[in-house]
Amino acid sequence: MKKSLALLGAAALVMAGSMSAHAADGESVYKGGTVPTCASCHDFGAAESPRVGHPGDWGERLDKSVDELVETVKGGQGAMPPMGHQASDEEIRAAVEYMLGTLE
Ligand code: HEC
Repeated sequence: MKKSLALLGAAALVMAGSMSAHAADGESVYKGGTVPTCASCHDFGAAESPRVGHPGDWGERLDKSVDELVETVKGGQGAMPPMGHQASDEEIRAAVEYMLGTLE
């Protein structure tokens, strides 16, 4: 009985994972889609970038729409270089959505 419950739990996890295929793309853009990678700054808060997994770092940025955030990333801001020439709008959007997903 215990074993079958554990199996059910594992199956639910697998299903949750495959439902977010889009987020998985975002994760690979975030981790390896650009040079430097988004992760190289946003994993650690380099140059005071808002970190993934730390909602408190984001402040007012959380009030922006995804479109606005994507525009900022494309054009660069402060210490963040413009990323628009390295990744498509869709890729940047997926990476931003992945990042926002870590804040929930
Ligand atoms: C060289 C370091 C660096 C890299 C690489 C980098 N960022 Fe940033 N990012 C920053 C910094 C610093 C800020 C804060 C800029 C500011 O508000 O002055 C920022 C801000 C942001 C914001 C908030 C934008 C807003 O409207 O306030 C988002 C979203 C973001 N980055 C996503 C990304 C994504 C996606 C990538 C990869 C495609 C990326 N960043 C790559 C340093 C970086």
